[in-house]
Amino acid sequence: MVEKPPLRVIAVANSKGGVGKTTTSLNIAGELANRGYQVLLIDLDPQGNATAALTQEELSTTTGQVLVAGGGLLDAVVPTTMGTLWLLGTGPELRAYAKQLPEQREDYRNVLRDILAAEAGGFDYAILDCPPSLDTETLLALCAAGFYVVPSRPERFSLDGVKRLVGLADRVQEAMNPSLQLLGVFFTQFNSNKPSRLHQDIVAAAAQLFPGQILPAVRDNQALGTAQRLAIPAQLHAPEAAGVLDYRALTDDLISALESHLTTTT
Ligand SMILES: Nc1ncnc2c1ncn2[C@@H]1O[C@H](COP(=O)(O)OP(=O)(O)OP(=O)(O)O)[C@@H](O)[C@H]1O
Ligand SMILES: [Mg+2]
Repeated sequence: MVEKPPLRVIAVANSKGGVGKTTTSLNIAGELANRGYQVLLIDLDPQGNATAALTQEELSTTTGQVLVAGGGLLDAVVPTTMGTLWLLGTGPELRAYAKQLPEQREDYRNVLRDILAAEAGGFDYAILDCPPSLDTETLLALCAAGFYVVPSRPERFSLDGVKRLVGLADRVQEAMNPSLQLLGVFFTQFNSNKPSRLHQDIVAAAAQLFPGQILPAVRDNQALGTAQRLAIPAQLHAPEAAGVLDYRALTDDLISALESHLTTTT
């Protein structure tokens, strides 16, 4: 009998807002699910944008309740329109639950990691959509993840958010989660018809800061936003849209980076 590979956990994070974290989480998750993998998307952002993009149902149990209870994940996940994509969703109450955690358990940083280890073995991938901050939710994601990716926008000062996030991830890796690996940094909402000097300068600066870790950009493409508003995965709504094709290629690169990290560390 062929043994099922272990769960791969990927956090999508950046301390800056509006850089494409949720769009990336949804599209990596949608792409992997479309390939037949069992995928769990965990919404760790109290804004609940990934949740709203995947379900219009009222959720009976949300991320914060599972974190505070230290379990009950499988009772809380809900199916989506894609048969192999599952959601642990949230609303704004997550912030209050996350604030409660440090008072509740000394080792609260590992709560998500422990829940996934105990309950998520049936999934192939867990994708963690983080909020635009370095708050507890992002910390829990980086402590639980084996890998993380950092989307950014090709704009002035955008690399500040990437640097802050990678700085936190480095500290987490040193002190708490030695297996955490950066899969790559990439730019979203990229306008390839107007390659400005600024774009080129930012990509060059990113390549200097993160040598060998810049992944291909995702083009600016309305279909990605429309799919989210309609609460349909873009892979079903517009399978040939430019943004979907870019996320398909990006997913290939992420899987290759992930597998090569795994073979060099085992
Ligand atoms: N490649 C793209 N093309 C067009 N629109 C995009 C693209 N990527 C993201 N968007 C749009 O940009 C906005 C911000 O994207 P998104 O919500 O993914 O960012 P975020 O980093 O998760 O934001 P927040 O920090 O608020 O959680 C959304 O309206 C989304 O639909
Ligand atoms: Mg978001």
